[in-house]
Amino acid sequence: MEHYIIKGGKPLEGEVEISGAKNAALGLLAAAIMTDEEVTIENLPDVSDINQLIEAIENIGATVDRVDRHTVKINGKTIDSYVVEYEQMKKIRASYYLLGALLGRFKNAEVALPGGCAIGSRPIDQHTKGFRALGADVDDENKNGRGMLIAKADKLVGNHIFLDMASVGATINLMLAASLAEGKTTIENVAKEPHVVDVANLLNSMGANIRGAGTDKIRIYGVEKLHGTTYSVIPDQIEAGTFMCAAAATGGSILVKNVIPIHLECITSKLIEMGCIVTEYDDAVRVKAGDNIRSTQLKTLPYPGFPTDMQPQMTAVLSVATGYSIVVESIFENRFKYVGELNRMGAKIQVEGSTAFINGVNGLKGARVSAPDLRAGAALVIAGLMAEGFTTVDDIVYIQRGYENFEDKLRGLGADIEKVSDDREEQKFKLRVG
Ligand code: UD1
Repeated sequence: MEHYIIKGGKPLEGEVEISGAKNAALGLLAAAIMTDEEVTIENLPDVSDINQLIEAIENIGATVDRVDRHTVKINGKTIDSYVVEYEQMKKIRASYYLLGALLGRFKNAEVALPGGCAIGSRPIDQHTKGFRALGADVDDENKNGRGMLIAKADKLVGNHIFLDMASVGATINLMLAASLAEGKTTIENVAKEPHVVDVANLLNSMGANIRGAGTDKIRIYGVEKLHGTTYSVIPDQIEAGTFMCAAAATGGSILVKNVIPIHLECITSKLIEMGCIVTEYDDAVRVKAGDNIRSTQLKTLPYPGFPTDMQPQMTAVLSVATGYSIVVESIFENRFKYVGELNRMGAKIQVEGSTAFINGVNGLKGARVSAPDLRAGAALVIAGLMAEGFTTVDDIVYIQRGYENFEDKLRGLGADIEKVSDDREEQKFKLRVG
């Protein structure tokens, strides 16, 4: 099994180029099948989640032309199935965006019911409530006995939908479906994440009429048909935040390039509170670590609050801060599973319910640890980069779901990290870095 081996203790210095946002790209790929004309998507991150969703799109008959590593042309004219099987759903949960896309375009969608996942139960009741409000008949209780979530309608008609919580997935799924509904749909208490805005922008450039994305209320004036376009994915806010944390953790200085600084503001302001110097440029930020890391408190919240997807990385940094820090996770109930691994590296973190109490230590020590999910995996790599000695991170398939060339980008900043698949390669790395 592939794993990372890291020799910690080196300050990371230099520049890193951020890839396209995985979570935006997932919604954009689904939107791209909503027309029978060609949609070109550029700046796609080359990560396994994206490649799995492209596979799911090919499986329903769409024509996918991979122009290069970061560009695909998708033509939905050839789609001949509305069914996304469990095999695909198991690989990539965000296949559920195909529900909104297929329902919108064909008024017919069958997607395997998503299960729970490592970070929590993740229900999709808000998605289905919205589809029903648009007039769809939805079986989300497996009455079909095939484990499929089935949504069908003679026609979709715009309606007023109030989400119980600002769900990113439900907001995007409902925007997709309502784009091709009759009349006006208003969705209130929507998610305001940058990737919601990105999906709205792509749909609008395909001929949709969506207003208000990025605010609490989105209005969608249904159109009859969408058309082809070319669109470039926004930079990945979470990948950028991860490198910003890596600079802080290792006492380094990193210029994080190809970002939209305003998307990073809550991460930037936390790092400043923690003693870092952060300089913003038009499309880059530089994070320079302070002399020591100061403790702080944070609570994850929907955008523009502190992102739950940055919680593990920030907790890793705070594990070596001076004094006590408190991190409250308010989005997912099971997102502290990596804390036991950090504690095995010498951190002193106690989790009670949704709160982590962090008693900052002077330093971490290398250990063998396992990534329990994507962002927690990144946090363990950050921990390994600042730890004394060697750290092995297992289960890196999770990390590869969302970080393009993670180890290469880190090596470009001076990190001693290698992806290895056996003991011999590991020994070679250890001999090389000493
Ligand atoms: C998306 C992101 C994920 C991020 C999360 C929160 C993608 C592919 N994934 O996930 O990386 O961590 O936003 O920023 O973009 N909820 C319900 N019912 C629903 C929908 C959601 O109860 O129908 C709850 C969830 O359990 C969770 C909260 O609402 O507690 C937010 O979830 P949501 O924003 O929907 O997350 P995802 O779209 O799954």
